[in-house]
Amino acid sequence: MSTPAQDILVHHEHGVTTITFNRVSKKNSFTASMYTQMADALDNAKADAATRVLVFQGDVAIFSAGNDISDFLNNPPTTQDAPVFRFLRCLATFPKPMLAAVCGPAVGVGTTLLFHCDLVYAGDNAAFSMPFVNLGVCPEAGSSLLAPQMLGYHRAAEALLLGEPFMAEAALEVGLVNRVVPPTECNMLAQMQAKKLAAKSLASLMETKRLLKKTNADELLARIDEEAASFGRMLGEPAAKEAFTAFMEKRVPDFSKL
Ligand code: COA
Repeated sequence: MSTPAQDILVHHEHGVTTITFNRVSKKNSFTASMYTQMADALDNAKADAATRVLVFQGDVAIFSAGNDISDFLNNPPTTQDAPVFRFLRCLATFPKPMLAAVCGPAVGVGTTLLFHCDLVYAGDNAAFSMPFVNLGVCPEAGSSLLAPQMLGYHRAAEALLLGEPFMAEAALEVGLVNRVVPPTECNMLAQMQAKKLAAKSLASLMETKRLLKKTNADELLARIDEEAASFGRMLGEPAAKEAFTAFMEKRVPDFSKL
């Protein structure tokens, strides 16, 4: 079993910083400690002149199962300074190009972090889902703002209200991913594209990204905070407690009396 320090790997090469999710035994679900490590890595990459591009990647069979559900039960993020919310703010304001290589399930924040990436490559086994309602909570990471913009309102409402997975080809069709490839080629493709970007003018890349993201810049941070306040409150309510307990007990949740 990996120690917490190895659950996130950070590698730097040729101007590209790569953050690898490395908690495969728990399907790369994110603990508070992992969010802190990722936020630190984003802060360092932002400040480090040698980093020009950032890449997120997981395993060939799993990108991320989202937030660690036992953490939701035992260590819920109820205040804005919780590691998850710090990570989301770092993600939303990261000024350099950010790429992701997604294979296998991308659940919850595993999908919503992609809304902040500039380029997304997917293995043909990628499955995206945002099952917040199924867990008795609400959208996070600005997804209530970004999902309708990126997917269109009705697709976003379907993905966020029903919470059912959609596959790589559907994600390609709506523009959530740039290209779909065999899973074994996905990380290599993202690295190849990252290296191309790293060879370009950083000032030009950053100014282009700033302009591309300008429309949402202020509203996005306000929305992330508003979602976080609702999410934190809902974590303590009976529906979420039933959903998380059911997951840990490997049974279907019973919302009939809630
Ligand atoms: N938090 C904590 N543990 C998790 C987890 C999560 N989000 N997702 C998976 N795990 C753990 C399982 O409890 C299991 O642990 P165990 O071996 O000690 O029993 C292990 O990872 C393997 O998970 P399993 O469900 O058996 O794998 P699978 O291949 O059948 O399914 C997923 C993979 C990702 C589809 C499924 O694990 C899943 O739906 N996870 C929950 C996703 C979720 O709701 N995330 C929260 C979003 S806000």
